[in-house]
Amino acid sequence: MADDESTRLKRDAARAALALLPERGTIGLGSGSTAKLFIEALAELVRGGRDLVGVPSSRESETLARSLGIPLLADDGPWDIDVCFDGADEVDPQLDVIKGGGGMLTREKIVIAAARSTVLLVDESKLVRALGTTWRVPVEVVAFGHRATAARLSAFGEPRLRLTREGAPFKTDQNCVIYDVATGPIADAPALERDLEHVPGVVTVGLFTGRADRVIVAASSGVRTLVRGARA
Ligand code: A5P
Repeated sequence: MADDESTRLKRDAARAALALLPERGTIGLGSGSTAKLFIEALAELVRGGRDLVGVPSSRESETLARSLGIPLLADDGPWDIDVCFDGADEVDPQLDVIKGGGGMLTREKIVIAAARSTVLLVDESKLVRALGTTWRVPVEVVAFGHRATAARLSAFGEPRLRLTREGAPFKTDQNCVIYDVATGPIADAPALERDLEHVPGVVTVGLFTGRADRVIVAASSGVRTLVRGARA
């Protein structure tokens, strides 16, 4: 898919998400390129007087939302989040997903856990039959002893340390590193999420199972909404 076509579809998904916003309330703001388009669209509504406040799931989304005039709650929480809107890297038929391609998985998981419902926004290229088919699973790891942690992760697939363009280890908002683990197609994503979470040194696993209530999918033929538990 050409880049501009992909951006157009992401924008379609972001625009469609606006219909699911409450009249007033607290909104979880995801991270990544699709969430960015959603935050920009949300800001237009806030400028128009809509009474919404945000909880951002990354420094990047915080900076963007602040610059666009969206009121934000403090980092500390607790928050009473009505609905969280975020992107995803892969979505399976159960609406379990891989996230963390942009490296912001830990705060995303915290914000999603604090939300009464979660809506993910994707273009159709993100739909897969099994997670792990096109993406590695991002795993955020404490920097201390990260190569020892990686050795344990290798039981689940080859772990690759994520690097910046300059070749240094990528550092998350929590000053941790990320290993992208080549699991291959995953048969039982909830079990793998739990197993990876038990590895000492692992902070957050980029498998988000049982979290998404709806997924808005933008395709060139139009936008549709997948609902958890609904028949395909
Ligand atoms: C951020 O680390 C991620 O979890 C993103 O939400 C995910 O990678 C989707 O990103 P895009 O919307 O940029 O495809």
